[in-house]
Amino acid sequence: MRLTSLQLEQFRNFEKETVALCDGLSLLVGRNGQGKTNLLEAIYILGYGKTYRTSLARECIRHGQPECRVSGVVTHGGGEKRLQVRISRSDKDLSVHGKSVGLDEFAGQFHVLAFTQGHISAIRGAPAERRAFLDRALVMMYPGHVRHIAGYVRALKQRNSLLGGEVDARQAVVDERQIECWDEAIAREGARLAWNRVRYVKELKQELPQALFGGEEVKLHYLAVGCGDLSSVEAIEGSLREGLRASRCADRKLGFTTVGPHRDDLKIYIDGKPAAHFGSAGQQRSAMISLYFAQMEIHRRDQGYYPVFLVDDVEAELDTGRLRTFLSYLSERTQTLVTTAKEEILPPMSSSVSRFLVESGTVSACAQGMEPSGAP
Ligand SMILES: Nc1ncnc2c1ncn2[C@@H]1O[C@H](COP(=O)(O)OP(=O)(O)OP(=O)(O)O)[C@@H](O)[C@H]1O
Ligand SMILES: [Mg+2]
Repeated sequence: MRLTSLQLEQFRNFEKETVALCDGLSLLVGRNGQGKTNLLEAIYILGYGKTYRTSLARECIRHGQPECRVSGVVTHGGGEKRLQVRISRSDKDLSVHGKSVGLDEFAGQFHVLAFTQGHISAIRGAPAERRAFLDRALVMMYPGHVRHIAGYVRALKQRNSLLGGEVDARQAVVDERQIECWDEAIAREGARLAWNRVRYVKELKQELPQALFGGEEVKLHYLAVGCGDLSSVEAIEGSLREGLRASRCADRKLGFTTVGPHRDDLKIYIDGKPAAHFGSAGQQRSAMISLYFAQMEIHRRDQGYYPVFLVDDVEAELDTGRLRTFLSYLSERTQTLVTTAKEEILPPMSSSVSRFLVESGTVSACAQGMEPSGAP
């Protein structure tokens, strides 16, 4: 799979720009504040139908404009897909070959992984970030996962709204019956959500490259809150149903639901110690890269090809040896787009590299097949 062309209209600091993209490794170089991250964000939006930088899609619209568009042509297996995302102040339209589609259909069209400062929070941040890491991977490969998330979130919101507030005895009986109904929906959807994650973590464990960076060993463990038996979807469903019933009284006092996959965590260890607390910045980044490599391999096994890979500020926190391992691995496997404001510190690469200069919301291609400057 490869993105061959990208067009931006009124997107962040880009007025109108078309970029023809190359296979292999592309460096997007430029000084701070020129639009490198914006460009990667636009590509990411073509993959997921939404940005990773903000929950307010309209922030992507160039200041003073009514709407923005990101369009791209993706080639895969001899075929071509034309994707477009149009964002206005009030809504968003996703389309494939000019036909509007829902998020679940759109998200499966262009497979792309992104490694940015924000995505490193899967290691450093709260459990929600790690759940999002797993769900992003699952949504891309199995569009049905979106429906389980949506069904689960809906049921959870309803249950939480019934838990809060003072009610009289008669209302409490009515609420109790409704809570039972929502418990059923939470157990059903939550079991499918958690089961997908459990299976995915099992695959990640199998594919984790060991001792890739300096001999560090990365280990994973999916921690399911309120679920003892994770051996099958039925077992999780039963366990969740039981857990929800048992916690109902306590949940009423707290006003929210304490059991279910919205509380789960993916525990990540480096050499036996929790990565978030004991890993150095570079070790955490390297562990994250190992996770991404595992994700790439699962994707290839499952779909038959590697997803496109985006890396923002590639040089941050990695020494030259780790950078070289990282970029060589990616560029040998898939189309990789990498931003940097410090091209001179990148290690020499064996494969050919395409260069694009990003300057004040414009992109210009430099001569093809060049080594990054800094190469001997
Ligand atoms: N909605 C918007 N409209 C206009 N300009 C915007 C909008 N959102 C962001 N920008 C501007 O886009 C510019 C480029 O931002 P971007 O994050 O892409 O820079 P960058 O090249 O990645 O820089 P760095 O090397 O510092 O990471 C910034 O000056 C920012 O203020
Ligand atoms: Mg940037």
